[in-house]
Amino acid sequence: MLSVDGAERKLGQNDLIVSKTNLKGHITYANDVFLDIADYSLKQVLNQPHSMIRSEAMPRCVFQLLWEYLQDGREIFAYVVNATRKNDHYWVFAHVTPSTDANGKIISYHSNRRAPSEAAIEAVKALYEILLAEEAKHSNRKEGQKAGYALLLKILEEKGMSYDEFIFSL
Ligand SMILES: Cc1cc2nc3c(=O)[nH]c(=O)nc-3n(C[C@H](O)[C@H](O)[C@H](O)COP(=O)(O)O)c2cc1C
Repeated sequence: MLSVDGAERKLGQNDLIVSKTNLKGHITYANDVFLDIADYSLKQVLNQPHSMIRSEAMPRCVFQLLWEYLQDGREIFAYVVNATRKNDHYWVFAHVTPSTDANGKIISYHSNRRAPSEAAIEAVKALYEILLAEEAKHSNRKEGQKAGYALLLKILEEKGMSYDEFIFSL
């Protein structure tokens, strides 16, 4: 099974984690639920890259897909495990969206997350373990990400589902 550092922290059923970023993915807003669970002050996260809470258990190819959707002007839903300041972890179901100006130009990004079901976490863990193993076969990070991405597409093709269909089947 996918191994994730530290102890698991759980979001409450009514909790919503919210953050916003600029075009580079640097944090411009984080709500109290974000700061509480990740164990940071607002000052510690503002202007930092969102990857500051990245967990090693997240396949790179999932973030590639996320950025492709966003830069294409599309919303994306994703299961993400994040690391806290003390290197514990928490799973979220994220809905990430681009914001545009009046001309349709993307100007920032916004993410809302809530607690995922246990069943979805187990299914995603199994998938992420496979993708991480593929990425780890390559000593070059970029090559690993590319291979993980290709494998993700292949797995979806075998399931006969788009990424969005797969996510909502969980
Ligand atoms: C609005 C928004 C929210 C994001 N939220 C997270 C998050 O909660 N955890 C995370 O690891 N990456 C998040 N990312 C993706 C990061 O920007 C980054 O791509 C990812 O952590 C991988 O980092 P790396 O490319 O430096 O390895 C978010 C990006 C955006 C635009």
